[in-house]
Amino acid sequence: MTATNILRHEHEVVMLALTGAEKLLNDITSIGTVNIERIRKFIEFSKHFTDGCHHIKEEKLLFPKLVENGFDGDSGPIGVMLYEHQEGRKFIRNMAEIVMENDEPDKTNTDLLASNLRNYIYLLRNHINKENEILFNMADNVLRPEVQEILVQEFNRVESEEIGEGEHEKYHQIAHELAGS
Ligand SMILES: [Fe+2]
Ligand SMILES: [Fe+2]
Repeated sequence: MTATNILRHEHEVVMLALTGAEKLLNDITSIGTVNIERIRKFIEFSKHFTDGCHHIKEEKLLFPKLVENGFDGDSGPIGVMLYEHQEGRKFIRNMAEIVMENDEPDKTNTDLLASNLRNYIYLLRNHINKENEILFNMADNVLRPEVQEILVQEFNRVESEEIGEGEHEKYHQIAHELAGS
């Protein structure tokens, strides 16, 4: 599997967790139920898998490789992707602050939780579509097969350093649980 296809596959896992997040959001907005344990689980998934496993591979490995191959690192598609990763972290931080302190958030905090969840889901889905449809196709055009191969090896190294051996599968499981599939 190529490096970009590994990332595309991880996008599918993130999308699955986002399906679960949308259910949690609907529970809040339509019936007023805040499933705090599942929201905590989604935040844990987003911090460790989406950020710790996936965004790290893009930021530390794929994007620099694209810059070496002529992409602009600050503006253009890469600049937008980096900005969106930061925005996502902000929404997750906001949600974490609320659910770590409160087992039963009040109305104000519940509304804040819902708006951050909604913003995060919207941001990430669009972000993933842009990478899948535009950036990764551009990457496939410029990265030679041997460069993709080096990236795959680097991905494996970063993953064991950042989240540890065997953790990847655990997060796949969590994404399925969140999506209820
Ligand atoms: Fe990304
Ligand atoms: Fe991505």
